[in-house]
Amino acid sequence: MSGFKNNFLWGGALAANQVEGAWNEKGKGLSVADVAKYKPNLDVGDYAGHNNITTDMIMKAMVSDDTEYYPKRSGIDFYHKYEEDIKLFAEMGFKTLRISIAWTRIFPTGEEEAPNQDGIAFYKSIFETLKKNNIEPIVTLSHYEMPLHLSITYNGWVERKLVDMFVKYAKVCFEEFGDYVKYWLTFNEIDSVGRHPFITAGIIPDKCKDYSLDEAIYQALHHQYIAAAKATKLCHQMIPDSKMGCMLTKLTTYPNTCHPSDVLLSLERNLDNYSHADIQIFGKYPILYLESLKKKNINIKMEKNDEKILFEGKSDYLAFSYYMSRTESADPNKEKAAGNTIMSVKNPYLESTEWGWQIDPVGLRISLIELYDRYNVPLIIVENGMGALDNLEDNNQIHDNYRIEYLKEHIKEMRKAVEMGVDLFGYTSWAPIDLISVSTSQMSKRYGYIYVDQDDLGHGSKRRYKKDSFFWYQKVIETNGNEIDWE
Ligand code: BG6
Repeated sequence: MSGFKNNFLWGGALAANQVEGAWNEKGKGLSVADVAKYKPNLDVGDYAGHNNITTDMIMKAMVSDDTEYYPKRSGIDFYHKYEEDIKLFAEMGFKTLRISIAWTRIFPTGEEEAPNQDGIAFYKSIFETLKKNNIEPIVTLSHYEMPLHLSITYNGWVERKLVDMFVKYAKVCFEEFGDYVKYWLTFNEIDSVGRHPFITAGIIPDKCKDYSLDEAIYQALHHQYIAAAKATKLCHQMIPDSKMGCMLTKLTTYPNTCHPSDVLLSLERNLDNYSHADIQIFGKYPILYLESLKKKNINIKMEKNDEKILFEGKSDYLAFSYYMSRTESADPNKEKAAGNTIMSVKNPYLESTEWGWQIDPVGLRISLIELYDRYNVPLIIVENGMGALDNLEDNNQIHDNYRIEYLKEHIKEMRKAVEMGVDLFGYTSWAPIDLISVSTSQMSKRYGYIYVDQDDLGHGSKRRYKKDSFFWYQKVIETNGNEIDWE
């Protein structure tokens, strides 16, 4: 029998900026995602794809209505096709769907006093459709789609004012959608501010004049923690029985060898990764994190009440993404491997995807055990999946056995962790339908159970087709995991 709970939340995860499109419809403002370029070949040192952005590039993008070069502007047209897509998710038996709200549909620049009613109406009709299909929403308030205006005017989250603007936005979401949404998340992969400061926190490197880029990153992180804590407290006050989670990119790091220097380095990387969840789950900064800032000469401005705010706004659960593990070596000459917006040392025991991300299902079990042991709060995997090139055959079939294998092996490890006693309440794979890649803005890097007939430049019928994995995942859900051969 399956080790998963009876009410286990099986489903998939999406982000507004990677699916919705309709970038300038019904009062939506420009977001940072709308100026993120198509970048099939990432520059060395920019594995997140959008770190070399300049004010000049943004100004040019703002006056352009190109959608080929800026593919997130048209997404996969979920804005107009969400009913069809949700029906397909329901056909797979989804218990949950993780989506995000585009802040710019609610407050186009972030500074308005009153929200955009058309944006509210759009998300209400999504939530109504989910309700009709018995799908429980999990909603991320900020998933790489903050208002561009706040980025160019204030250098994003470097400015404290953004805390109030975010809380104002969160309050409208709780007021308007609280009847539909019980599970919330504040910031997607908050730790990624350090890896891609522009798309996560709106920081434009050439605007860092009175402070260094590093200082900007840690200051922005501090403001996001404060905003997340305030939103969490508010959510509890406004929506009875609501649960607010924080979200981490779980970058489990192995030492390349048992050489103490490699072990030390991997320990440092893991502690750094944990610190972002520590702050939100324990409600205070880890001492070693604060000490490391001092050593780096980074002064972040904190206000008198901040410690109290963090402590009063602790997360109820921990959500995380897991795509791969990492390996670290003290030897800078070791062969490298790509990964989720980060480069690591190649692990000789692992295979890689076509984009070079190393496939490590056991690493998921390790991650679950480590996280549960450390935090003792309910866990949910809100992203896990494999970007691959798919082939639409003449009869509109897509045979994606490689994806099934990837997911199956990860779900097996997940079950072993659950059987050990880890409190895991859901799994939303990334992504149930093909969408625009965050790092490269490619369409051809496909994650879905549902194929979207669209190429990298946005050309195609946009028709949806079921891949082999669609039918496989349907059985997994139907049998609460028992479809999988556990041998
Ligand atoms: C996660 C992000 O880190 O990685 C998603 O939260 C993203 O938004 C996913 O799509 C996969 O990355 P990519 O670059 O393949 O889209």
